[in-house]
Amino acid sequence: MMKHAPQTRPTLVLGGTGKIGRRVVERLAARGRPVRVGSRSGEPSFDWDDRRTWDAVLEGVGSAYVSHYWDAIPGAADTLGSFAHLAVESGVPRLVLLSGRGEEEAERAERAVRDSGAELTVLRSTWFAQNFSEDYWREQVRAGEVALPAADTPEPFVDADDVADVAVAALTDDRHIGELYELTGPRLLTFAEAVREISRAVGREVRYLPVSMEDFAAAAPGQGLPGEVVEMLTFIFGEVLDGRNARLAYGVRRALGRVPRDFGDYARDAAASGVWNPRATRAA
Ligand SMILES: NC(=O)c1ccc[n+]([C@@H]2O[C@H](COP(=O)([O-])OP(=O)(O)OC[C@H]3O[C@@H](n4cnc5c(N)ncnc54)[C@H](OP(=O)(O)O)[C@@H]3O)[C@@H](O)[C@H]2O)c1
Repeated sequence: MMKHAPQTRPTLVLGGTGKIGRRVVERLAARGRPVRVGSRSGEPSFDWDDRRTWDAVLEGVGSAYVSHYWDAIPGAADTLGSFAHLAVESGVPRLVLLSGRGEEEAERAERAVRDSGAELTVLRSTWFAQNFSEDYWREQVRAGEVALPAADTPEPFVDADDVADVAVAALTDDRHIGELYELTGPRLLTFAEAVREISRAVGREVRYLPVSMEDFAAAAPGQGLPGEVVEMLTFIFGEVLDGRNARLAYGVRRALGRVPRDFGDYARDAAASGVWNPRATRAA
C-alpha cells in the first residue's frame, strides 16, 4: 500500500511567498493540507539569517519544503545543513529540498542536508521560465529589450508549475524519499530564442541584447533590481552559463509520469495574463 506523510500536522513551506513556494502552498491548500508559510513575512516570522527564528516554525510540523533565498551564495550550504539538523532533531525528518543545477554551493548544500539523516527528496532545478514574468527580467520584457550577459549558451528553462508539482508529489507521497530529481523543461533554448518566443507571444517586438557582465551590472539598478540581486545574478551568470547545463534531464517525467511544460506554452499563457503589458504612462 502507498505510504503517505501524516496529514494532520502542517507542512512547513520555506520561501512560501516566492515563485515556487507560493505555488506549493496553493497546491497543498487545495488538497486540504494544513500549511505554514516560512518566510520573513510569515507568522511566526522566519529568517534564514536569524537562528532564533528557526525553532518556532518547526514546532508541530510534519514535513518541510526547504528553499533558501539564494542557495548559490557561499555559506548557504552550512546554513541549510544546520537547519536540516535542527529539523531532524525537532522530529521533522521529512524534507524536500529545492536546489540549483550545476551550482557548486547548492550541491554542497544538498550534501549538508543529506548528512542530517533527513528522509530527503532533492529537486535540482534549472532556471525557471517565470524569471521572465514574475521576477528579474519582467521589467526588461515590458520595456521591449532584454539585455543579459548570457552569450548563446542554451538552457532548458523549466516551468515553476512543474517544479511545484514535483515538490507537492514529494511532500505527499513517501515513494519519493531518497530521490534526486533533476528538473528541466523539454527543450533547450538560448536566452535569445527564449526572448524571441516571448516576443511572438506578446505580439510586439522584444529584443534580446547580449551584453558584458560589467554592462549588465551597471544597467541593472536602473531596471529596478536591488543591489544584492544584481550581485547574485552576476555571480550565477558567471558560474553556470558555460554550457554545463546545456542538456535535458528527465526529473519531471520520472516524478510525475508526464512531460514537462514547454516554454512556448508558458510564454503564451504569461502574455495572455497581461504581465508583460507595457506600463501605462500617466498623462500630464
Ligand atoms: N530563480 C531560478 O531560476 C532558480 C533556479 C534554480 C534554483 N533556484 C533556487 O531556488 C531558491 C528560491 O529561488 P526563487 O527565485 O524561487 O526565490 P524567490 O521567488 O525570490 O523567493 C524567495 C523567498 O524567500 C523568502 N526570503 C527571502 N529572504 C529571506 C530570509 N532572509 N529568510 C527567510 N526567507 C527569506 C522570500 O519571502 P520573504 O521576503 O517574505 O522573506 C520568498 O518567499 C533559491 O535558493 C535559488 O537559488 C532558483
